[in-house]
Amino acid sequence: MELLKKRIQSDGLVLNDSLLKVDSFLNQQIDPDLMLKIGEEFAHRFQGEQITKILTIESSGIAVSVMAGLVLKIPVVFARKKKSVTITEDVYYTKVYSFTKQESNDIIVSKQFLQKDDHVLIIDDFLANGEAAAGLAEIVHQANAKVTGIGIVIEKSFQPGAKKLMDAGYRVESLARIASFSNGQVIFL
Ligand code: G4P
Ligand code: NA
Ligand code: NA
Repeated sequence: MELLKKRIQSDGLVLNDSLLKVDSFLNQQIDPDLMLKIGEEFAHRFQGEQITKILTIESSGIAVSVMAGLVLKIPVVFARKKKSVTITEDVYYTKVYSFTKQESNDIIVSKQFLQKDDHVLIIDDFLANGEAAAGLAEIVHQANAKVTGIGIVIEKSFQPGAKKLMDAGYRVESLARIASFSNGQVIFL
């Protein structure tokens, strides 16, 4: 997505050889116009697929997911992160380990928001090691629902997440795919 890549080039900040800061339009300050265009692009890429619900994870996945949900006219559910869950019968949950943050979270979704006849589009802002997306897919499977695909705003293709998810059979659509960061510059695939 050219508009997104341009924005990453102009406003993204390469922190080191593996981290990109996009706080000015995605992760803290949010550009609603760009979010809507991202939502439209996800809707376009998954055109023709059956999708009944979007599943994302708090917090940074929510803005783009709401816009995609607006365009597709379907509800958006976000998984909550908890240090540890009190296990009850009415939630799906799984553990997600973040290599970037070196911490583990339980992610939970109330059972009432995912049904077995749901066809789910998983959306997140970043794809690094794929742990968050794989955790969301696991929750969809617990509900006996189907994963239609995975939509990612920024894929760091030099990290293993994209390959891992594709090897597991998921369709992954990433709007910007980054090959590397070198000398503070973003190199796209
Ligand atoms: P993974 O799910 O692909 O394995 O990613 P990982 O655990 O490594 O990512 C942990 C958090 O860091 C996620 O946010 C993810 O979006 C974010 N992240 C990963 N790489 C980058 C990066 O290069 N730049 C930025 N800005 N974020 C990155 P989170 O913990 O879920 O927090 P939230 O922002 O969604 O609240
Ligand atoms: Na995220
Ligand atoms: Na994030």
